[in-house]
Amino acid sequence: MSKPSLEGRIAVVTGASAGIGLAVARILAAQGAMVVVNARRQAKLEEVVGELGKGRAIAVAGDCSEPAVIGRLLDAARSTFGREADLVVVNAGRGLNGSVLTSDTSQWEEMVRTNVIGAAHLIREAGLRLSKATEGKSGPAVLDRARDIIVLGSTVGRHVSPFSSMYGSTKFAVHGLTEGARRELGPRGVRVSLVEPGFVVSEFQGVAGYDQKWMDGVFERIGPPLTPDDVARTVAFMASQPAGVHVADVLIRPTRQDYP
Ligand SMILES: NC(=O)c1ccc[n+]([C@@H]2O[C@H](COP(=O)([O-])OP(=O)(O)OC[C@H]3O[C@@H](n4cnc5c(N)ncnc54)[C@H](OP(=O)(O)O)[C@@H]3O)[C@@H](O)[C@H]2O)c1
Repeated sequence: MSKPSLEGRIAVVTGASAGIGLAVARILAAQGAMVVVNARRQAKLEEVVGELGKGRAIAVAGDCSEPAVIGRLLDAARSTFGREADLVVVNAGRGLNGSVLTSDTSQWEEMVRTNVIGAAHLIREAGLRLSKATEGKSGPAVLDRARDIIVLGSTVGRHVSPFSSMYGSTKFAVHGLTEGARRELGPRGVRVSLVEPGFVVSEFQGVAGYDQKWMDGVFERIGPPLTPDDVARTVAFMASQPAGVHVADVLIRPTRQDYP
């Protein structure tokens, strides 16, 4: 069997300065893709580009919940690599400790803007551009090459979380957006896919405000938790399928994670 290859693919990865997005950018580049990386911390992005190689990666810094930044990201893929991006990873997002009753309300807007509104804008803009490429084609001819939008959901977007249900509600929304876009864009040759990880060790826990002692207890009970590389391998597997094969939805948990 041949090794999976993403040679010739042009990728955009949001939230690529840390965690899952960084691991995804690394594996896509290692398998031959050209990569546009995005996050808000420019210095970290420059390091990522240095590591992946200047001819293989470029950085577009900014808040990817803003439509103007999304436009810049996708335009940069085309102007730098000569073609519209065909592998868009909608990854940037943040968690929040607590429920609708207990979470910090001052963080709700930023979370909803990043996790839901930003994801929706990127799915929309990427979907419009990717489906334009198959305009005028019909039937199986739309599958002339693989085209992907891969979205980071979560196990807490499928099973209500006992400890972060406010965050989980944003992932329930993202799951709905992704499945709706899949139905709309699949017939036009664009695969819109969902990855639903369980616990992954990254900057996520600190940003969400989880108590370290509590987290240690959770990891002792369900661990070892996933690493960003575990999720990145899944993304690369999905993207490297032949154009007519769609691995549309993958739920990936640490083996000992019973719930959520
Ligand atoms: N870790 C988990 O247990 C877990 C489980 C299931 C799903 N997920 C999902 O997986 C995705 C990645 O999470 P992670 O674990 O890798 O978290 P992480 O380590 O905190 O990384 C989040 C990334 O997103 C970027 N980011 C955040 N807000 C942004 C914005 N408005 N615009 C641009 N970039 C932004 C951050 O960089 P800057 O700060 O530089 O902008 C960082 O690169 C998220 O959607 C998360 O909900 C995580």
